[in-house]
Amino acid sequence: MARVALYPGSFDPPTNGHLSIIHRGLKMFDGLIVAVLKNPAKDAVFSVKQRVELLRGAVNGDPRVTLKTFEGLLVKFAEQQKVNTILRGLRAVSDFEYEFQMANMNRKLAPNIETLFMMTGEDYFYISSRFVRDVAQMGGDVSGLVPANVLAALQKRFGK
Ligand code: PNS
Repeated sequence: MARVALYPGSFDPPTNGHLSIIHRGLKMFDGLIVAVLKNPAKDAVFSVKQRVELLRGAVNGDPRVTLKTFEGLLVKFAEQQKVNTILRGLRAVSDFEYEFQMANMNRKLAPNIETLFMMTGEDYFYISSRFVRDVAQMGGDVSGLVPANVLAALQKRFGK
């Protein structure tokens, strides 16, 4: 039976940190469902549809990666998808508290679903979508921090 994990997030925009988790996750799982939260964040740079397309481009159409969107509770979505592992990347200590709370809340809601954390590689631990958004918006160079297609989309959006 194929082992599949759910990798959820906002992905606004997808970064090389996200991509690293996807590539490393695929060494442990046969497939990943990468799920973009349909959040109404006011400061969003890309629409949910655009984020899905950016992720699709970034994984180069890898058939092991299924792209979906979800709203509401993550564990409910996981159950709908018949997946019992949630994959999350952990960067610095600062991520820990939030992730710890979220994992425990999710376990309380759905005891059969496990959250699995992967440490982000040392090249990526300082990258966040928020910083990428802010730096790109202010004209800074984010090359090397995001996949090439995301860099192109940011440059189109904010100029070089
Ligand atoms: O990329 P992000 O913004 O860190 O991802 C956060 C995400 C989407 C995983 C989280 O906000 C989420 O699961 N939202 C869905 C709502 C939910 O299930 N909340 C209860 C868990 S505390």
